[in-house]
Amino acid sequence: MDTSVTIEKIISLAKRRGFVYPSSEIYGGFAAIYDFGPYGVELEKNVKDFWWKYMVQTREDIVGLDSSIFMAPKIWEASGHVGGFSDPLAECKECHARTRVDKMLNEIGVDADEKMPIEEIDKLFKANKAKIKCPECGKNNFSDAKNFNLLVKSNLGNFSGDVNENPSYLRGETCQGIYVNFKSVTDSSRVKIPFGIAQIGKAFRNEITARKFIFRTREFEQMEMQYFTRPDDEMNQYEKLRANRWEYYLALGIKPENLKWHKHDNLVFYAKEAYDIEYQYPWGFDELEGVHARGDYDLTQHSKFSGTDLSYLDTETNTKYMPHIIESSVGVGRTVFALLCEAYTEEKVGDDLRTVLKFPKKMAPVKVAVFPLLKNKPELVAKAKELFDSLKWTYSCEFDDSGNIGKRYRRQDEIGTPYCVTIDFDTLEDNTITVRDRDTMTQERINIDALPEFLQKNFV
Ligand code: GAP
Repeated sequence: MDTSVTIEKIISLAKRRGFVYPSSEIYGGFAAIYDFGPYGVELEKNVKDFWWKYMVQTREDIVGLDSSIFMAPKIWEASGHVGGFSDPLAECKECHARTRVDKMLNEIGVDADEKMPIEEIDKLFKANKAKIKCPECGKNNFSDAKNFNLLVKSNLGNFSGDVNENPSYLRGETCQGIYVNFKSVTDSSRVKIPFGIAQIGKAFRNEITARKFIFRTREFEQMEMQYFTRPDDEMNQYEKLRANRWEYYLALGIKPENLKWHKHDNLVFYAKEAYDIEYQYPWGFDELEGVHARGDYDLTQHSKFSGTDLSYLDTETNTKYMPHIIESSVGVGRTVFALLCEAYTEEKVGDDLRTVLKFPKKMAPVKVAVFPLLKNKPELVAKAKELFDSLKWTYSCEFDDSGNIGKRYRRQDEIGTPYCVTIDFDTLEDNTITVRDRDTMTQERINIDALPEFLQKNFV
């Protein structure tokens, strides 16, 4: 029996159990956009809460921000997105599918990425075209490679009816909101360099090739932290940030053998160094997070384009300089996807196959499920409700009285609930309950009064 983790199995479980749904399904779908269902939204929230705690609340040197999705359009000119935020694309002349050229080259073993100049990519594409097939129709008749801008335009505040006339943009990354608020944050809080500003929020990109489930979508959420340093301290802080981000993934519960560093060979002109943290998704290692040393490019550009001097007066060294920036940037969806892959387990139990999501307990969407043994016994239901009510403000709980206990266990296994607690007839006699462990499937009988301490001990 093949119990390996495949993308098809993850997609199927995610849909069946209410983690992730394709968008607009009743209308035939909407490409590269996904919705998070009842358990997906809890998992997402746990990811964001953990990141926020790790990145902001437990750090004295990092503060939070929530900037708007829409910003002055000139910001995207300053950042380079209007001119250069693009992927190399080729169109299949047979079926008109548009595909990323760097990815098609990678698939036949040619080293290429989206940061290469388009002339270079096109040269590689022409040299290798004969070996490449269109992923949609399998034919081999392509246009030349050309750049396609990924910014999503809107007519916000423009009533002419033409989206191309003075467009405003849905942000392509959240960090620009951090850069343009740098002065407001330094003026209004007690931060001093070195310090960071972090935020979680939606970003939008007109991705050309959006396959691989929630790995690459056109609407997604980023968790980004930008750390402002003295110019001569940038690389020292960068090494610290790299170590910190690796530790974060271990603390999140990802196995170290499923993570690796990937150093960028092709850097954008202003970057000092760039690494990705890759996770072993079902198709192999691929980017989960970027950790980049960006130099003074961002604040210099925004100073130039806005006319506001964003240099910093360092009262400790009595010098004025343009802060350098190092960043950590990761997608919520890619983290959720990694956690689903990491947790997905199929086990043989007797003649059955048990599917269980062995999430780190702190990440589980539901922490405790409470069952009355039988739904038609009011005294069992009342006692189970009472227990549910006593736990619900501390743990995300689910009350379930439908189907036999075995089926209820399997359902909770599939959503990764660490503990199921059953109220039965003995409970009414001696106040004991059974606590069933998701991973070992063992059942322990304990006194109902001992449950809070049991849970506290197991959810540290
Ligand atoms: N501020 C830097 C920045 O945005 P990026 O490498 O383009 O850098 C950072 O994106 C992270 O955002 C990626 O490592 C990934 O986790 C996530 N991300 C980027 N594009 C995405 C997409 N289309 N769908 C889902 N996540 C995406």
